Amino acid sequence: MPALTEINTAVYRDRRARLAAQLGNGVAIVPTAPERIRNRDAHYPYRYDSYFHYLTGFREPEAVLVLTGGDQAQSMLFCREKNIEREIWDGFRYGPEMAREVFAVDAAYCIDELDAQVPDLLANRTAVHVHLGADVAWDARVLGWINTVRNRARAGVAAPDEIRDVHALLDEMRLRKDDHELALMRRAGEISGGAHRLAMQAAKPGAIEYEIEAVLLHEFRRCGAQSPAYTAIVAGGANACVLHYVENSARLADGDLLLIDAGCELDGYASDITRTFPVNGRFSGPQRAVYELVLAAQAAAIATVKPGAHWNDPHDAAVKVLAQGFIDLKLLQGTLDGVLEQETYKQFYMHRTGHWLGLDVHDAGDYKLNGAWRELEPGMVLTVEPGCYIRPAPGVPESFHHIGVRIEDDALVTAQGCEILSAGAPKAIADIEALMRGRHA
Ligand code: GLY
Ligand code: MN
Ligand code: MN
Repeated sequence: MPALTEINTAVYRDRRARLAAQLGNGVAIVPTAPERIRNRDAHYPYRYDSYFHYLTGFREPEAVLVLTGGDQAQSMLFCREKNIEREIWDGFRYGPEMAREVFAVDAAYCIDELDAQVPDLLANRTAVHVHLGADVAWDARVLGWINTVRNRARAGVAAPDEIRDVHALLDEMRLRKDDHELALMRRAGEISGGAHRLAMQAAKPGAIEYEIEAVLLHEFRRCGAQSPAYTAIVAGGANACVLHYVENSARLADGDLLLIDAGCELDGYASDITRTFPVNGRFSGPQRAVYELVLAAQAAAIATVKPGAHWNDPHDAAVKVLAQGFIDLKLLQGTLDGVLEQETYKQFYMHRTGHWLGLDVHDAGDYKLNGAWRELEPGMVLTVEPGCYIRPAPGVPESFHHIGVRIEDDALVTAQGCEILSAGAPKAIADIEALMRGRHA
């Protein structure tokens, strides 16, 4: 049984054609990710390379895509040979013949032929587009291919005299999501939003963080998502002030907040949602004040997300609201201008307000172009995730100690503004409390 039943070949063919059109007379070489050993004979769950997947939809390890540009652009997939013996142990593999048909590449070969074929494909080409610097073995292999071509100089063969980063071209393409990607990202957001709802309903004093994590992971998988997009953060009480808390092993206490940052990965596409809510279903006064502030900061940030806005506009908007709020709550002294200028708000808000989202949770794409923040365009997807993390410190009122709040949504830039892909997870206080009131009915 093939591991994939439906490959939308037109989508991948179109992306390869768009890349090939930018190569001129050059050649692009894009490998997938290696399998990685976790310990002894156990592997980490396999995850293909995002760039490779973007161009092929092919999910097996040990595969490389070679794309030639120019008048006769060609796509060649190198992949594992069929091997009945190995398939008994590890499962189905396409083999070149079936892969060529199913994935609609011009040609497919056994991966063992790569070293023999690439030098021929590089002969008399101006540039090779590869990503170097991530894997020394791969870098050496690429340089070996180029040297093989150089050694044919006396036979009149020219080697590429330029090595360019193929990721530079692909990052720009990946930044603007096509309809196929947006359908997956909408669904990923829907699944994750539903999982957050279930987590709110499952939370109660005495439960353990990992029990709530299990609810999220169960829902992701139940809905067909292959895995979480990143390790879930399920942080009760003071743990919410540890930005990358992933231990998820503490007991939830009555009167504490629970911060959950969790999103599924569906067919390669990430969702990334954070919600913060009271373990017992009712926000206390100080919790409410901090939560309303973060929610207002997020609303201000989301209001800036539209075509023509600059990447940093949501961050600037969120910081402004938070800084004023920190002054109003007596967490900080001074004027708004002073707090912004001296960046004293960073005591309680020390991270940025978002990142690109797509095949990777921190997705591909530059944030600045020629030194200036990039303009948002329809089809780009970003997170909007302000927060407030209050650790005990001199001058910080005790009633706020250990409150950590983050609210994170996934926003698609549209022609008019933005569409929130994660809207299924409630975030208004009244909606959260209403959902939680009904949870043990
Ligand atoms: N969950 C990763 C992030 O929010 O950036
Ligand atoms: Mn995020
Ligand atoms: Mn997140």
